[in-house]
Amino acid sequence: MSTLQEQIVAQTLLWQQELTAVNNHQQLEELRIKFLGKKGSIQGLFEQLGSCSLEEKRMCGPLLNALKNECEKGTKEKKIHLAASTSEHHATFDVTAYTPGQLEGSLHPYTHFITEVQNIFLSMGFELLDGPEVETDYHNFTALNIPADHPARDMYDTFWLNSPGMLMRTHTSTVQMRAMKEKKLPLAGICTGRVFRHEAVDASHDHTFFQCEGILIDKNVTLANLFGVIEEFLRALFGSDTLTIRTRPGFFPFVEPGVEIDMQCPFCTTGCSTCKKTRWIEVFPGGMIHPNVLKEAGIDPTVYSGFAFGFGLTRLAMLRYGIKDIRMLSNGKVQFLKRFT
Ligand code: DAH
Repeated sequence: MSTLQEQIVAQTLLWQQELTAVNNHQQLEELRIKFLGKKGSIQGLFEQLGSCSLEEKRMCGPLLNALKNECEKGTKEKKIHLAASTSEHHATFDVTAYTPGQLEGSLHPYTHFITEVQNIFLSMGFELLDGPEVETDYHNFTALNIPADHPARDMYDTFWLNSPGMLMRTHTSTVQMRAMKEKKLPLAGICTGRVFRHEAVDASHDHTFFQCEGILIDKNVTLANLFGVIEEFLRALFGSDTLTIRTRPGFFPFVEPGVEIDMQCPFCTTGCSTCKKTRWIEVFPGGMIHPNVLKEAGIDPTVYSGFAFGFGLTRLAMLRYGIKDIRMLSNGKVQFLKRFT
């Protein structure tokens, strides 16, 4: 049997080892009882000390007291450490607790802008249309008078999917055929949503951006109705009663005639960097829905006519908020997003 002194040294080492291995409150309590409890090892050593020689008592007494102190101090410290350590911390972490000065969330600029655009069209009697982002060749091209061998397909750098005939929609015009087939006439609706193009990304191009498509079909609809709606929309959006538009011919296979609508620059009266000193900004392509498209939807083009337009919502949002780099809208930079709280 080893001497009392040897036993004290052995217990000290054991304590240190076992304390290090403790990683929760229950283990700590068990260890405390094992060493410091009424029937614990330290008590046992004190009992042995009672029957020792005076010389041994003088040597071992202080050692044993030191071990007892070490155990008590170690228990206290470990308790504090456990309470602060992350594993225990998570269990009591209150995610709803209020801390002054915490980061405030905000709506994304797209959300602000899309809501505003939708509200203006809703106030003019348009309804909201929707369609999928993963589309068929038919809705993206064929139904819009762009058959398989049509050169106009080259205007759209398309992400084709592995499933034959499936793609990521290149424009929101895809909702035209869906709405015309599903809804009753007269019909007036807009669709805001994401579109995808296989393009190199730079400050003004992204592979994913937003468009807004609009259609209105009834008897006796003319280009004048299209121009009136667009002008009203732009006036509401830019808060101006006098903002005007100008039109030029444009070509899109799904409209005849097709037009490009420019708006007067809302930011200057004499020319600025946004309008490149021209006073006009290109915004809206559109036109009268092609008779082939109406026929495809089962609508008689000799009775009904309609207009369609499709504008770059992303581009208009950038103009409206003075955003110079399109990538700011998708890179999640907090400094930028904070502007929209
Ligand atoms: N979908 C066309 C594009 O993304 C834009 C467009 C042009 C939509 C003319 C229309 C339209 O509805 O009539 O390039």
